[in-house]
Amino acid sequence: MRNVTKDNITDVFLGYFGPDTDPRMREIMTALAQHMHAFVKEVGLTHAEWQRGIDFLQRTGDISDAERHEFILLSDVLGVSSLVDMVNARPGATSSSVLGPFHIEGAPAIAYGADLKRHYEGPVLLVEGQVCSTDGAPIGGAKIDIWQTAPNGMYSSQDPEQDTYSFHGIMTTQADGRYAFTSVKPVSYTVPNDGPVGEILDATGRHPWRPSHLHYIIKADGFHTLVTEVFAADDPYLDQDTVFGVRDDLVMTYVEEPADSFPDGLELSGKVDEPYLRVQFDLVLAPEEA
Ligand code: BEZ
Ligand code: FE
Repeated sequence: MRNVTKDNITDVFLGYFGPDTDPRMREIMTALAQHMHAFVKEVGLTHAEWQRGIDFLQRTGDISDAERHEFILLSDVLGVSSLVDMVNARPGATSSSVLGPFHIEGAPAIAYGADLKRHYEGPVLLVEGQVCSTDGAPIGGAKIDIWQTAPNGMYSSQDPEQDTYSFHGIMTTQADGRYAFTSVKPVSYTVPNDGPVGEILDATGRHPWRPSHLHYIIKADGFHTLVTEVFAADDPYLDQDTVFGVRDDLVMTYVEEPADSFPDGLELSGKVDEPYLRVQFDLVLAPEEA
């Protein structure tokens, strides 16, 4: 086509696909071109704005490395990561929620009832629950990869004062699907906002806060892996998570309990002499064939 116009450019673009283009690639690139072309026309994008966008993407790449995943953060604050979670939701399963950039591979195995709190100050938090299938059957032997911030709001990878795997561990559920561990109550914290993504937040009058949460990845043979988070019902940022990760079924109440009700069979049993917080978070996994 030698007479490309703003009215036919999308069709011209689609006509350039080769006959052997993978059908899914064709579907995705078709929709991408249609939406991007429509966007440029809708806002009447100027050359200066287009150049600013290109510079922004360049700087997003430049600041990224093995530890800093600025493109994932960009996807998170634009709501794209959460939309991908939601369009891939499994009926009857616990909602998934953003992975975020602070998961690290290779966390140590921890036993049922293990303590992640160690020497940190503040009330003990007991987290417990059961992992089940969508048909209600408990799933024993599931692996739960757990990570959270220290009370200073930092993940171990951000904080030189913490060991590599501080507040990280992988617990295997018992035969009845149950898991339990102790920790500290996580705190609200800000996503990294000292790079290009921070500029978008600033430019649109947005704050960088996330409500407090614990991260989980749950893997079990024959089930879809679930990446999710559990949020505290009393957190002030629950209705304004800057990465859109909150879902109703992931919000749990932390209940204060007297010291003498602390259960047996956990690493801290017999050592808790002050009121502690207890939260129950049950998880439902979807079978792979579903
Ligand atoms: C997090 O929860 O760790 C997180 C998620 C998205 C962006 C930044 C941090
Ligand atoms: Fe987080």
